[in-house]
Amino acid sequence: MKKKIKIGIIGVGSISNVHIQSYQKIDSVEIAAFCDINEKQLKHMMDKYHVKNGYTSVEEMLDQEELDAVSVCTWNSGHAECSIAALNHGVNVLCEKPMAMNAEEALRMKQAAEKNGKLLMVGLVRRFGDDIQILRDLNQNKFFGDIYYVKSKYLRRSGSPGGWFSDKKRSGGGPLIDLGVHILDMMNYLLDCEEPVSVYGYTFDQIGDQVQIKKNAGYVSSTASSNIYDVEDFAGAVIRFSNNKIAVLETSYNLFIEHDSEGLELYGSEGGAKIDDGITLTNNVCDYMANNRLLIDSKFDFHKAFLKEIQHYINCITDKTECNANADDGIRNMKILDAVYQSAKVGHEVII
Ligand SMILES: NC(=O)c1ccc[n+]([C@@H]2O[C@H](COP(=O)([O-])OP(=O)(O)OC[C@H]3O[C@@H](n4cnc5c(N)ncnc54)[C@H](O)[C@@H]3O)[C@@H](O)[C@H]2O)c1
Repeated sequence: MKKKIKIGIIGVGSISNVHIQSYQKIDSVEIAAFCDINEKQLKHMMDKYHVKNGYTSVEEMLDQEELDAVSVCTWNSGHAECSIAALNHGVNVLCEKPMAMNAEEALRMKQAAEKNGKLLMVGLVRRFGDDIQILRDLNQNKFFGDIYYVKSKYLRRSGSPGGWFSDKKRSGGGPLIDLGVHILDMMNYLLDCEEPVSVYGYTFDQIGDQVQIKKNAGYVSSTASSNIYDVEDFAGAVIRFSNNKIAVLETSYNLFIEHDSEGLELYGSEGGAKIDDGITLTNNVCDYMANNRLLIDSKFDFHKAFLKEIQHYINCITDKTECNANADDGIRNMKILDAVYQSAKVGHEVII
């Protein structure tokens, strides 16, 4: 019988559930150990998933267990440290988004992967969504001609996940680094990962945390809140790429919008597209302006996309499939995010 791939999970909070449940669906995989600095959370997750081996120290887990691969699902401030530790133990890494707190940390992670000859995949899960896969397919089939402008939004009216997410020391920033990285990466992916050359960015912290607001629960961190909210409420950016293509983004935790909204629009020389709760294509048909609604369910499905991401990670390890969310993709995102925060601070465009 073929040996199973032994997996360790580092940071067993909210999102780790989706990693664990995806690994459980793959026959060639065995979840061998959990690690979390919070002993209570560690015990809770070991009981929930019947995992016998638990550690509160990453180094100890890596020394004791013969792991093939890990998922790093800690706070953002733990991503570089835990990923580098695993890579230095000869273990493959799937690190959650954002890749790190900044581009400098992300580069050190890539160096550790290269030095040890191991895979470092970044959890850019939106690449695995049906909506983006369909637009990539249309692009490869030249529907859009040359795509030159993409804009995307990920706006919450009142939606910080709490816990460490609003504590800059552990998160690196607010909605921009948390939600913005998703839409930034989607746009990078659709623009074929061109190199960014300059960024004009802005952030606002006019509202602050709204813990008193009565609302339906959204995504929440499993970490207890610390009353620290020192991140931005709202951020936006205009990003120019080497071939003059432009990406524009807007993202918020707190903003007085009518309702939460997500979406993406792209424009090319031959046609365009809009993602809302489906996909609309725009072009000219026999010199008539036409809008076409695709008759396929393309709405982003969180669990389906995660399963595809985790299956891809395992395929990269076992079959040497080329990784489609690699360290360079993560670093490109981090360089842009660093530049948005820098531009917001200095009040003008920043050259990357
Ligand atoms: N891809 C997505 O759509 C998506 C969605 C949500 C969260 N995330 C990312 O997943 C990561 C975790 O988010 P979450 O919502 O699960 O947070 P969480 O607070 O629920 O869980 C994080 C866990 O990591 C543990 N931890 C922190 N530092 C550690 C360390 N050095 N070693 C071991 N354990 C450590 C904490 O004790 C906590 O239990 C973040 O980077 C976040 O951006 C991604």
